Amino acid sequence: MSNNNSVWTSIPFWRRSAAWATGVASVLLIMLTFDTIGQITMGSAEGLEKGEAQRVPAPTVINHHIDYKMSAKRGHEVPVIGKKEPFFGKEWSPKDAEALLHLGKLTSQAKNCMNCHTLLGNGAYYAPDLTKAWLDPKWAQMIQTTGAKTREEAMAKFLQHPEMYPTHERRMPNLKITEKEAQGLVAFLKHMSSIDTNGFPRNFSKTVEQFKQGGTNAH
Ligand code: HEC
Repeated sequence: MSNNNSVWTSIPFWRRSAAWATGVASVLLIMLTFDTIGQITMGSAEGLEKGEAQRVPAPTVINHHIDYKMSAKRGHEVPVIGKKEPFFGKEWSPKDAEALLHLGKLTSQAKNCMNCHTLLGNGAYYAPDLTKAWLDPKWAQMIQTTGAKTREEAMAKFLQHPEMYPTHERRMPNLKITEKEAQGLVAFLKHMSSIDTNGFPRNFSKTVEQFKQGGTNAH
């Protein structure tokens, strides 16, 4: 029997298979792209007030308390958006909240935080991952150290004068961040902590436990 009779050595068969595989993969990728766009699109302020589930909540999430709770169903921690609480002493309108977040994002780019830190999976691991930095239990203690009244004030003070409040072996340099920029950065980080990242970074809950036992969350 000649090999030409076997389908495995038939060139037209492989050509057709390659065309089908490429076609099916393309359709799948297009479907996944639309699925992803839906998941990463920022929610609306109205939806947030109604308690709609939003993977990336509206900027006005900075007006809410944010918790990080273990979900038995999903097998990791998920952000839980709670009751309203003042942020830097007030409730921010959708327009002002968006402007503040925007300032924070631009500042994070201008000061190149990613050169040392990781944000949503991008950046370096010289310094702690900032994706969930807002939720770090250390801010409760930093409120006392910095003489601030709230978590956001403590974070803003740290960002403006990191050399005055060292908490890790490695030190963050003073990046000459203004008070307004620091507020923007804290809003940016608070919003980021409310994003449902499927439990990323994974080791955060462990570091919370270690922190309670007196350790640090340095990586
Ligand atoms: C040159 C490296 C470097 C750059 C750039 C840098 N940081 Fe840091 N950062 C550090 C180090 C090191 C620490 C740990 C020091 C400490 O806590 O005393 C730190 C700590 C922090 C913490 C505390 C994190 C936690 O939960 O313990 C925050 C928040 C933070 N940085 C935010 C920022 C922001 C926002 C920017 C950009 C505007 C930035 N950093 C830029 C090195 C850097």
